Amino acid sequence: MANKLYLLLMAALGLVSAYRYPDLPPGPYCGTIGAQCCSNRQDSCSHAILGTLCYCDQFCNRTLSHDDCCPDYEEVCLGLLPPPENIGESCKENGKSYFPPEKIMRDCNTCKCEPKAPGKADWVCEEDPCMMSTEVIDNVNRGGYRWRAANYTQFYGRKLKQAMVYKLGTLPLSAETRRMGPIRHNKDVFYPMNFDARDAWPGYISPIVDQEWCGSDWAVAIAGVMSDRFAIQSNGAENLRMSPQSLLSCNRRSQRGCDGGNVDVAWNFAKSQGLVDEDCYPYEGKASPCRLRSKAGLIENGCVPPASVPQRTSRYKVGPPGRLQKEYDIMYDIMQSGPVHAIMTVYQDFFHYRDGVYRRSGFGNNQLQGLHSVRIIGWGEERGEKYWLVANSWGAWWGENGYFKIARGENESGIESFVVTILCDVTESYRKK
Ligand SMILES: *[C@@H]1O[C@H](CO)[C@@H](O)[C@H](O)[C@H]1NC(C)=O
Ligand SMILES: *[C@@H]1O[C@H](CO)[C@@H](O)[C@H](O)[C@H]1NC(C)=O
Ligand SMILES: *[C@@H]1O[C@H](CO)[C@@H](O)[C@H](O)[C@H]1NC(C)=O
Repeated sequence: MANKLYLLLMAALGLVSAYRYPDLPPGPYCGTIGAQCCSNRQDSCSHAILGTLCYCDQFCNRTLSHDDCCPDYEEVCLGLLPPPENIGESCKENGKSYFPPEKIMRDCNTCKCEPKAPGKADWVCEEDPCMMSTEVIDNVNRGGYRWRAANYTQFYGRKLKQAMVYKLGTLPLSAETRRMGPIRHNKDVFYPMNFDARDAWPGYISPIVDQEWCGSDWAVAIAGVMSDRFAIQSNGAENLRMSPQSLLSCNRRSQRGCDGGNVDVAWNFAKSQGLVDEDCYPYEGKASPCRLRSKAGLIENGCVPPASVPQRTSRYKVGPPGRLQKEYDIMYDIMQSGPVHAIMTVYQDFFHYRDGVYRRSGFGNNQLQGLHSVRIIGWGEERGEKYWLVANSWGAWWGENGYFKIARGENESGIESFVVTILCDVTESYRKK
């Protein structure tokens, strides 16, 4: 009591700032925007109060006779926040109060509660576009589109710019690769209205992979096409899943691992070094160090050859990649030899695809885009709409059990601009004639 009376007296006389006495002007002092807490006595750490100065430094923390600390020294500089009702500054979210410097997430953006003025605080938020967009969901589902959009909780809280790296992963094609001349089949044969490689070659088509949060679409698509084609081109003798991890981890030169890959470099690796199978080198979702011995075959790397082809010793390799461009050339190649690798351009709306025949809607963010490697396994028609049937690499929960349909014959999203076919080095005696 005596102490408090003494402080009040001194404060009124303007000699010292009474520590935490309720009649003092509330501030903030140390908590003013731009103010600092100092370890020694500096002018920048002092504030005018009742005609004198108070301080926000360690020296103000000594004895009573030197107690010239600003009233909010403790709460700001020592981080001892008084009960909220005493500050009078809070940020609101869903009926809850938050106090500086508390943070919350609004979808993919962090918001920080910051003091704005005496007694006031407000949210300061990042403003990045997120993967999931209300604009896309509402507008696409309003009708008039041949596809529907979903609100994927799995994508909630993710930034769009990161999705363009870690859900995709195909780097821009080199000028040389873009100039690659297409193969023309020009075959005047019967093309069924619907073709699904899973029905044409039951048990030979590799399942949907989830590349996770890693820009490895290039490795997943190439390994997928190789798996399918090894099985088909060997009449089922070499029916196994190829390992995208053996590309992701071991094809490092001129590649960026989970930050993306060059498809020409990767196909070249598959041709010169070869892949191993998924059982031997399972997917990890990260570009960990390669655990295969360079150039060494299956046995030296501890991989088991398929039971039906025990004589296989070399890794699984392919011939030079060929480019297809025309709708019917792509169809012919799939029908003859199996699924192909395609590269498309992805904008925000595509992440929302639920079912139907996709065509870019233009809703959502149109600044960010990325290239995506996928595997075309067939085609068809739905309500008079021609489509490609395509395997994505975001898990089986996405789209139509991991697959999507996209408009065919009009280079939708560039899906027909760079399609790759390959022949596999299957064990010769099993080669399909
Ligand atoms: C200031 O005072 C508080 C409370 O008495 C004490 O915990 C703290 O260690 C002191 N800080 C300094 C820098 O002397
Ligand atoms: C999508 O889901 C999130 C999280 O579940 C929800 O907050 C958001 O309102 C949903 N958006 C739409 C358009 O339904
Ligand atoms: C297909 O679309 C892509 C990208 O949208 C474009 O770069 C390419 O030139 C188009 N190709 C053809 C043959 O029209």
